Amino acid sequence: MAYVFDKTLETGNQLIDTQHRELINRLNQLIDACATGKGRASIDGFVKNVADYTAKHFADEERLQQDSKYPDYVNHKRYHDAFKTTVATVAREISAQGPTISMVGKVNNDIAGWLIKHIKNEDSKVAKHVKTVNS
Ligand SMILES: [Fe+2]
Repeated sequence: MAYVFDKTLETGNQLIDTQHRELINRLNQLIDACATGKGRASIDGFVKNVADYTAKHFADEERLQQDSKYPDYVNHKRYHDAFKTTVATVAREISAQGPTISMVGKVNNDIAGWLIKHIKNEDSKVAKHVKTVNS
């Protein structure tokens, strides 16, 4: 089942929302590649697409927070760093084991599930802060 970027995931910040949409697209591509039994090399490529875009998105979002003096920046960056470690671990494990049921479960829970929660609980606060500062 694919993840849908719906209204509940919109933060109202255009840059953040655009990048979240792209990240969810890439996650769906990865999950689809696992579900349809693509080869390891191809799946490694989809994992890399997710990891690369995560790094880019977090860097942009962290810059936005610093520029707007977001008060919870330090904690937020900590969440990002922990997530990047999770993605790197999952990438290594998928590469070693292939897309086993347990690995696909990790992609769904530890990556997609985390991201959706993070968007709703944390990024929504960032977007609200940026909006206040800029208005
Ligand atoms: Fe974030």
